[in-house]
Amino acid sequence: MGDNRESDVETSIFRRLGNVNRSSSNISQDSSDEYLMSSNQEIYRLSLNHDVIKGAMGGKLILAPIDFVSQPRKILDSATADGLWLRDAASSIPGSHHEFIGTDLNSKDFPAKPAPNFVYREQDINTPWPSNWTASLDLVHQRLGLAATGPNTKAVVKNLCDLVKPGGWIQLVEAEDRIDEEDGPAWKSLFQIMHDVFNMIGTNYGAIADAAKWLEEFGFEDVREEVVEVKYGKKNKDVDLARKGILGHRLSAAGLTRFAKTLPQEKISISRQEMDTLPAVLELETEERGHTLYMRVVYGRRKFQLL
Ligand SMILES: C[S@@+](CC[C@H](N)C(=O)[O-])C[C@H]1O[C@@H](n2cnc3c(N)ncnc32)[C@H](O)[C@@H]1O
Repeated sequence: MGDNRESDVETSIFRRLGNVNRSSSNISQDSSDEYLMSSNQEIYRLSLNHDVIKGAMGGKLILAPIDFVSQPRKILDSATADGLWLRDAASSIPGSHHEFIGTDLNSKDFPAKPAPNFVYREQDINTPWPSNWTASLDLVHQRLGLAATGPNTKAVVKNLCDLVKPGGWIQLVEAEDRIDEEDGPAWKSLFQIMHDVFNMIGTNYGAIADAAKWLEEFGFEDVREEVVEVKYGKKNKDVDLARKGILGHRLSAAGLTRFAKTLPQEKISISRQEMDTLPAVLELETEERGHTLYMRVVYGRRKFQLL
């Protein structure tokens, strides 16, 4: 796994915040030790979160019912980070002749020497895709990538849909805007900071709720959605995944609060003092109480007849 990885939250938001004043300057110094440390943490956090989400999905990364046996398939993972999802998906599907493509705004964590059937390239989901990719992919997958879309979420989903070949599938996986009443205060605070940040960039936190309707509008059929209950800490019966969730949440809170502190104070509802202790408090709360993150998996097949 690579080590120089920009925080996803920072990456997603950098471009959208544009000229918004920052009260501190620590996040744009690519070469600072602190920055590199936070990048390493982020890639590690993503790998922990990957395991917890995969566990919640019963070990299945692809819910779309694709036939991987009868012919080679071409699979894209958009906003892939270091490509962990792609490699793990590849190891779980039959056949060795499939082609895997990973794209991300940030190429720093792409594997230096990918396997011959893997390709990684830079791609901002908010900009047009290469025209020769149109209608060329058997599966377009994206997980936890919509944060970066600002007010253009539907257009970004449309562009992803355009890459799917007739008969091919799209699968989107995102967190729902949902929290349990009984959840602890630290988790609620983290959720609030996420909301504040999404508001600043103009992204609707719960946009995935509209995705199934959009897919149908874009000419997809057999559209299905499943809500996956991702259990963190005490709520996860698997001891190893429980531990990963606890650590992952500490790292999430550390990354998010570090970033939130660089934003205008009045835009973030949680005080700086609370943000200072949030990583440690959330870690303890996740260990003692746990909580559930609701993730929605939306998938559908492009009609055979091109619109
Ligand atoms: C929360 S991470 C999710 C990574 C991976 N999909 C996963 O589920 O583990 C979000 C990813 O989106 C990428 N990203 C942010 N803004 C992007 C953009 N505008 N276009 C493409 N990728 C973007 C980040 O670099 C980061 O790798």
